[in-house]
Amino acid sequence: MNVEFAERVKRLPPYLFAEIEKLIKQKKAQGVDLISLSIGDPDLPPPPFIIDALKTEVADLKNHNYSFSQGEPDFRQAVADWYKTRFHVDLEQEQVVALLGSKEGLANIARAFVNAGDRVLVPDPSYPVYANGSTILNDGVPVAMPLLQENGFKPDLENVNPEKVKMMFLNYPNNPTSATVDKAFLEQAVEFARDNGIILCYDNAYSEISFDSYKAPSILEVDGAMDVAVEFHSCSKTFNMTGDRIAFAMGNTQLISGLTKVKSQIDSGPPVYIQRVAAEALASYTGDETPEFLKKNNLVYAERRDILVDRLCSLDFECDKPKATFYVWVNCKSNSMKFATKLLEVGVAVTPGIGFGEHGESFVRFSLTQPKERIEEACERLSALFQQ
Ligand SMILES: Cc1ncc(COP(=O)(O)O)c(C=O)c1O
Repeated sequence: MNVEFAERVKRLPPYLFAEIEKLIKQKKAQGVDLISLSIGDPDLPPPPFIIDALKTEVADLKNHNYSFSQGEPDFRQAVADWYKTRFHVDLEQEQVVALLGSKEGLANIARAFVNAGDRVLVPDPSYPVYANGSTILNDGVPVAMPLLQENGFKPDLENVNPEKVKMMFLNYPNNPTSATVDKAFLEQAVEFARDNGIILCYDNAYSEISFDSYKAPSILEVDGAMDVAVEFHSCSKTFNMTGDRIAFAMGNTQLISGLTKVKSQIDSGPPVYIQRVAAEALASYTGDETPEFLKKNNLVYAERRDILVDRLCSLDFECDKPKATFYVWVNCKSNSMKFATKLLEVGVAVTPGIGFGEHGESFVRFSLTQPKERIEEACERLSALFQQ
């Protein structure tokens, strides 16, 4: 049989990480002691209270039936309660939908609202799902909003053309640049979306991974955001539960109901026991104080960040200490693929910025998802390489 991919699949850009992944495989096959600073998956485990809750909930035989596409009412209430505690924003259960990871929600939201040929504003560099899984696979046209170092890796909204734009994605704390924003920028983004009738999808997956007393804001804290915005959160990074696939979106009722409508034709919601566990995890927020386990988690990342950034600066690389996320975005002032390949020669894997978009070129992303000792070892190898 001669099968041909659908046109929308053919339009997906080439997978730029393939080349570097092949080299990583080769190195591993050669027995090289590879330090992988390329993956956005925490090495730290979920806290013990989550594992205990999982054991209890999975053993409850009532928790093995279908859920609802929008999620269990108790779960959505737990999300609303968490949101009130964390961001001081009121939500009705109807304004919340459970997701099988935020990646799924970010991809499916476009299916509900984007028509063929609609333009979708996508930050460049960015998490590839906005342009690919969301826009291209729903026949939309991704339009890059450059995130430049001189603008603090924020799009210059005053110079973005809103014509024929249906939807826009924003993500702060940002992957891959680790940039953060203040509320004034979010106000500008909401105003831009409202003035131009654009759906604003705000990816806040890293809101809880922050340091040095920085607390990430929510888009829904901004007046008028509820008219145009939907925000995406996830238990993946907050509770080190990437493999458990549980996340949620909240915001404008019509946007949530559109996303739910699409999902009801595709999935039947996350497993009930996972929703119950996630509800317990969210309930660990009891006031303005960050929960203890998360404070510890973030201290671990902060220590790793300091070790890596201090060493990179001592080697004359340009990089700041990020206030959030577990990424360090480094200006390597050269071809990012070549630079990442050079680091592989000493057994250190990082992600070339070009894989996140054209404007990611000349940067590489280091993930802080290895123990401190491995980060120190990686630093030694970098010193040996660049001090020759
Ligand atoms: C910016 C951003 N958003 C969303 C996700 C998806 O996370 P999940 O699907 O595990 O919730 C990721 C994963 O790395 C990410 O970096």
